[in-house]
Amino acid sequence: MSNQPREQGAIGRVLSVSGSEARIGLFAEALRSAGNADDAVLTVGKFIGIARNRLLLVGIVSQVSTEVPLLVREEGFHAIASIDLMGEITSGEIAGDAHFLRGITSYPAIGDVAVMLGTAELRRIYNIDTSNGVELGCLQQDTVVKAYANIHDLISKHFAILGSTGVGKSSGLASLLRQILAARPDQRIFLLDGHNEYAHCFGDSALVINPANLKLPFWLFTFEELLEIIFYGRPEDEEVEILAELVPLARALYQQSREGLGARRHDGRAADYTVDTPVPYRLKDLLALIDERMGKLENRASRLNHRRLITRIEAVSNDPRYGFMFANANVGGDTMAETLRHLFRWRIDGKPMTVMQLAGIPSEVVDAVVSVLCRMAFDFGLWSNGAIPLLFVCEEAHRYVSADRSLGFQPTRRALSRIAKEGRKYKVFLGLVTQRPAELDPNIVSQCSTLFAMRIANDRDQQLLLAAASDAATNLLRLLPSLGPREALAFGSGIPMPTLFTFPELPAHFVPRVGTISGEPEPASSNDQVIDSAIERWRGAMMAKRLLEAAG
Ligand SMILES: Nc1ncnc2c1ncn2[C@@H]1O[C@H](COP(=O)(O)OP(=O)(O)OP(=O)(O)O)[C@@H](O)[C@H]1O
Ligand SMILES: [Mg+2]
Repeated sequence: MSNQPREQGAIGRVLSVSGSEARIGLFAEALRSAGNADDAVLTVGKFIGIARNRLLLVGIVSQVSTEVPLLVREEGFHAIASIDLMGEITSGEIAGDAHFLRGITSYPAIGDVAVMLGTAELRRIYNIDTSNGVELGCLQQDTVVKAYANIHDLISKHFAILGSTGVGKSSGLASLLRQILAARPDQRIFLLDGHNEYAHCFGDSALVINPANLKLPFWLFTFEELLEIIFYGRPEDEEVEILAELVPLARALYQQSREGLGARRHDGRAADYTVDTPVPYRLKDLLALIDERMGKLENRASRLNHRRLITRIEAVSNDPRYGFMFANANVGGDTMAETLRHLFRWRIDGKPMTVMQLAGIPSEVVDAVVSVLCRMAFDFGLWSNGAIPLLFVCEEAHRYVSADRSLGFQPTRRALSRIAKEGRKYKVFLGLVTQRPAELDPNIVSQCSTLFAMRIANDRDQQLLLAAASDAATNLLRLLPSLGPREALAFGSGIPMPTLFTFPELPAHFVPRVGTISGEPEPASSNDQVIDSAIERWRGAMMAKRLLEAAG
């Protein structure tokens, strides 16, 4: 075969085809000439084209070897490359109208000529209409060519960034979200920032929320979430029963007083409210109701339970660290619309994005707070029928939706699972980041149509990705343990084809990092303040615990 006259640029010919895999016999010159420029080295991950009629079939090298059977060597081939076929470049009717299509319509035949794909062809593959594209970074194989994702498919079908710790996931996410904001300035983004590392990454585009300026009234919490806060995850049966009965009454009472009815709860209106109905009530009404009930009791043990519940609620609501929930607890006022508008940026006011810093929230309530946020993001989408699309991004996702179903706070898991499964219908989209892919619920991963896999050394984590990837990407996944810093393999519906690319290097002041609260670098002299505030929080936590223990 190789004795036929060689076409310009030919590096070899097709030896065999099996499914979407082809083996190419390589000429000696192809191997020699490749050695010069780095981008032209013929190795794993490079693109090869096979000319077939008016098509150029595009494949990615998954293996190269000089172990060549004698018969093949006698034909003039010095090495063999295996390639995975990904798609084809069709030359249209008009000259220059060539474009890339995913998938293969006609398979290569034995003897077809193989060429290395040059910059021009690679550009054609990634040549997405830029008004629809988010720039991801440079192609790993050819740094001149930029890789793009389709912004609509990327956002609206959920995405995930997976990779071992320290490989650049957070920086990659920051870069991606910055690109999304640049391309779609009115795209609402809500980012759960578990370690307070993103405050400074988005400049003026992001509203940074922390416990100091968070307002999440306690009455927005569902019963389960409230119990988590009042009982620290160890509910006492009788006290829970008392609350289950009296919270709806407190809600009804407040509504009645607002409507000027002035009537007491016995008029049956309480039946209109459940423990979870998100309408306001006043804490003092709830405490008064408990107290009133206690007064009517004969049984000493029961009275004691009521008293204990009152002390618990008082301890929690007076704890300054819980101020974001209990400020104005006794004033009333329906601030739900205002709260949601502020959190989810309904009125953008120049800041389409929210960075929700979780690190300062007391660890006993952080689960419940995350649950409220996820649930409200979904519920608003549901009740408004997707009026305002929201991208809900969750760092450290394995903390909230663990593969082990008994771990984590169940209401948060339910809320995130709902976004993953049904969010698209209501325009609530999910972006997940985790350094422990295998510990993330696989059902959630499978809902993410675009995956960005960074370096992953762990075998279990790799298995998870293999299960999630299409056939064409599986060979590339074997490269994961050896990816360099900032490098990622993207695959799925947001990307024209499985792509190895390098996230751009962020300027130092945009790199996510822990330790800056307001976005300004921490001056050295503030060390004292840091220590003081740590001690204050520490003591606060101990005091709250003691009050509760006294109550229990
Ligand atoms: N795109 C980038 N631009 C600039 N620096 C980067 C980039 N990616 C990674 N780095 C460097 O690598 C460090 C680690 O990156 P990053 O915090 O993004 O990793 P990670 O995968 O999120 O880590 P972790 O698992 O600890 O959350 C950064 O502090 C930064 O110095
Ligand atoms: Mg990180």
